[in-house]
Amino acid sequence: MTIGKLRVFGVVAVLTAFTLAACSGGGTATTGPGGSAAPTDAAAACASGTTKIQVESWWTTGGEATGLQKLFDQFNKDNPTLCAFNAAIAGGAGTQAKADIKTKTLAGTPPDTFQVHMGHELLDTYVNISAGSVLSPLDTSIIDPTKFPAGVVSIISGKDGKPYTVPVNIHRANELWFSKKVFTDNNLTAPKTWADFFTAADALKAKNITPLALGDNGIWAFGMVFETILIADLGADGFQGLWTGATKWDDPKVTQALNDLKKVFGYVNSDHNALTWDQANQLVIDGKAAMTIMGDWANGDYVAKKYTDYGWAPAPGNDGIYQALADSFPLPSKAANQDGVKKLLAFMASQVGQDIFNPYKGSIPARTDAGQAVDGVLAYNDYQKSAMQDWTKDTVVPSMEHGAAAAPAWASAIEAALTTFQTGGDVTATQAALVQAAKDAGY
Ligand code: GAL
Repeated sequence: MTIGKLRVFGVVAVLTAFTLAACSGGGTATTGPGGSAAPTDAAAACASGTTKIQVESWWTTGGEATGLQKLFDQFNKDNPTLCAFNAAIAGGAGTQAKADIKTKTLAGTPPDTFQVHMGHELLDTYVNISAGSVLSPLDTSIIDPTKFPAGVVSIISGKDGKPYTVPVNIHRANELWFSKKVFTDNNLTAPKTWADFFTAADALKAKNITPLALGDNGIWAFGMVFETILIADLGADGFQGLWTGATKWDDPKVTQALNDLKKVFGYVNSDHNALTWDQANQLVIDGKAAMTIMGDWANGDYVAKKYTDYGWAPAPGNDGIYQALADSFPLPSKAANQDGVKKLLAFMASQVGQDIFNPYKGSIPARTDAGQAVDGVLAYNDYQKSAMQDWTKDTVVPSMEHGAAAAPAWASAIEAALTTFQTGGDVTATQAALVQAAKDAGY
């Protein structure tokens, strides 16, 4: 992988101050006193006498929770006096967890470490903030930046040039997943363009099969579909330019993308906003829907559910473009268990740690020398092997919905516009709202 290929991650836009508006929807978070989401107390599984390391995440579904637990199992075995545990709050894309983490961390009572996306979500919320970073920079005893792609290092680093988090993976956001059986039965192949998609979707609809499964009880899943359409209609540079001001949001191609989105929305399951992303994925597994567009945590979901009859392809019009995001874990300056967290983060950054975690998670490792089999653990599957190759040759663009491309306040404003768009379908008004959202973000 070349620096050039990842240069887009280096184009970190002006980092604006923001408030992380609570996202809509979001799974089955446990509810704490006062009605707010609270993490599960998985610490109960820690042996007495161990020093606990609370890791707050939103990973509660099969592949995600399992991958993290496998990583902890090895770490806890190697460090018998410590016990890392998953303090999870359900809700895909962190719809519940992110707000809880942010409130606690900015108030000076953070979890020992927590899930955060590389890019704007990390830097704008916790690092490059007016009050000063609430995270500590990581030295080479924790993460060796030379072992990670330069583009990734650039968006985990603060203005001081130091890394502030450990990326455990690289996820691909712009992927189409499909039921091989439904495709074979209907003589279909993966649509390469949105025009192909509409042809296939009409054939499926005529047979009462949902063409595209959508689980957007958190609007982010719909936002991901929009992003893939923007990528198709604007190309990699045009899409990237949306986040740097180089592409204007009143561009006719954005109008086109909204028109396409409206049309695509006509092919999704009617109960879409009652479902989580993994419930939508289940419709594909059950053969009730032909396709879904989702990040490759869907691959981890298939693995966890032992479902193998699925195919994958870049979303229509997205061939050769890898829309990326990374889950990462930082060192809060006020973490109670500094020594334990440092050890855990170093393990997360290691080749062994990444190769334990990622085969279950569905993603590929962020470390450039990882991607190997580890004795006794699940090996990478065919999807992941293909993703590793695409990652080295595709043009990389960042994900808006998963923290890499835009400041959280900007992403929330886009989500608000998309929520209204779902009910009203007004392309002109929605584009005006997107233009305003960019202006409010400083573009
Ligand atoms: C993303 C996260 C993934 C996965 C997904 C669904 O934001 O990066 O790891 O958890 O949400 O919840």
